[in-house]
Amino acid sequence: MEYKQQIAELLSAKCGLDAEKIQSLIEIPPQLEMGDFAFPCFVLAKTMHKAPQAISEEIATGLDLSGTDLAAKNVGPYVNFFIDRSALSENVIGEILKEGLSYGSSDLGSGKNVIVEYSSPNIAKPFHVGHAFTTILGNSLARIYNKLGYNVIRMNHLGDYGTQFGKLITAYRLWGDEEALNEDPIKELLRIYVKFHKEEKEDPSLTTSARENFRKLEEGSAEEVELWQKFRDMSLVVFKKLYNRIGVEFDNYNGESFYSDKIPEIVDILNSKGLLVESEGAKVVMLEDEGLPPCIILKSDNTTIYASRDLASALYRYRTYNFDKNIYVVGNTQALHFRQVFAVLKKAGFDFADNCEHVAFGLVKFKDMVFSTREGNIVLLEELLDQSVSKTREIIAENAKTRGQDMSEEEIDDIAEKLGVGAVIYTFVKSGRERDIIFSWKEMLDFEGDTAPYLIYTYARTRSILRKGAEKGVNPDSGNLSLLTGDEEYAVIRALSDLKESIVKAASSNEPFMIARQVAAIARAHNRFYNNTSILNCDDEKLIAARLALCEAVCTAIKDGLDLLGIGTVERM
Ligand code: ARG
Repeated sequence: MEYKQQIAELLSAKCGLDAEKIQSLIEIPPQLEMGDFAFPCFVLAKTMHKAPQAISEEIATGLDLSGTDLAAKNVGPYVNFFIDRSALSENVIGEILKEGLSYGSSDLGSGKNVIVEYSSPNIAKPFHVGHAFTTILGNSLARIYNKLGYNVIRMNHLGDYGTQFGKLITAYRLWGDEEALNEDPIKELLRIYVKFHKEEKEDPSLTTSARENFRKLEEGSAEEVELWQKFRDMSLVVFKKLYNRIGVEFDNYNGESFYSDKIPEIVDILNSKGLLVESEGAKVVMLEDEGLPPCIILKSDNTTIYASRDLASALYRYRTYNFDKNIYVVGNTQALHFRQVFAVLKKAGFDFADNCEHVAFGLVKFKDMVFSTREGNIVLLEELLDQSVSKTREIIAENAKTRGQDMSEEEIDDIAEKLGVGAVIYTFVKSGRERDIIFSWKEMLDFEGDTAPYLIYTYARTRSILRKGAEKGVNPDSGNLSLLTGDEEYAVIRALSDLKESIVKAASSNEPFMIARQVAAIARAHNRFYNNTSILNCDDEKLIAARLALCEAVCTAIKDGLDLLGIGTVERM
């Protein structure tokens, strides 16, 4: 990043064009031999009254690059820039070795609060792959912001309120089975919920009872609150087990229920601003001037609704955390809801609405997979993980056999769990989040493809060469990094040098895939180098030590990058 900026400034001084504009024009040549950056001179033809070729020649020969790590050469209408390979190697690898896993950290966000709301499943409902998407994406974003020095507040806005809890209370009193509940709470709650909907069609008194129970719950009636609390606690135990398995944590679980008693204030505020109008018995805020349908705040029976709880929650978050950013990681099917909520906040005069952002994502689809627990259209995260781990286990055991590796069952289990879970996580973060994801075993478990197993394998293999070096008494040494100027070495170093910028970009666009893509580029370049070089079999001890330093830097970068995505590594496999 710094080199590009430096080039832009030098060019700007030379030709008068704005440095930022130049930065945006600078290209990366298709082959490394052609240089690291290229500036196309076409834009200058008009002002300089010359052909681009002539301009390029004039700039390339006239630039004073003394004291920089750069060289320039004109290639047709382009000025191509070459970074001094030794210098880049010393800078990049030197820095990574010095900083270790804190490489890439910065104080960009220091003193700023960012709320990342993610996961937010519904109590008493199965945890499906849609919730896995928000959980994995949000967890990665929280890690990325944290890396950049922001103070991150990780919130789980549990769906633990609403009319469905009135239904559950009614259903549980009629058909609930305590024993079944203790054994598998979500399964039992789902069973009675489904039954409720079936019976409700024949018996409308159930609907009335459910509505009554939710009203009582909102009024704080002890018996209803107790049952609700039980459903919530039991569901949370199940969710937390899953979170634990995929390495996800939260700072709080302030779900929808938390905001129930904060809604009267919202109603007062909207009233006092003359925004609340009556429509078919309900209280709504009209948003037609924003081109949006009305936002319902209170239903005709005066109970609150999803949107009103989000309004209360936004205000609470602002007062409590004075956030710089308030991010909602929620599927793009809720885009309209968030536009309405933000529009109401804005109308009510809350300028912090501009700092609220819906970070949306696409749908999850499956190609070559069969699931046993498919409830309607739902695929459970747990089953996806279990299958991924067991398939990974087969591959690892098979590989170990063909390689004649001696691995204990426990070791295989441990590696399979990390790789299998990592493979699922990586599938969620490897592409732009707004695109639909298509899961396929063939692709996600391909040890040579763009997958977590490939990256973790690259890491473990590189660790193993470092161990072998240590056994022979050669260790990474940053004293002779300037020796690393070969094309393949340089390609790795270039890929490493772009990691930092990818972290910053991932945060500014809320797109973890930018890091995934960079880590994959590092691993690919490294494997090319590694496969074509017998690192330890070389007469030059200094070169071996420098190459081991490169290996060490690659390990740090992969581990660091995967950690930002929420994926763990293994030391050997
Ligand atoms: N519980 C909701 C669902 O599962 C998602 C909540 C999203 N967050 C929010 N603040 N509305 O669909």
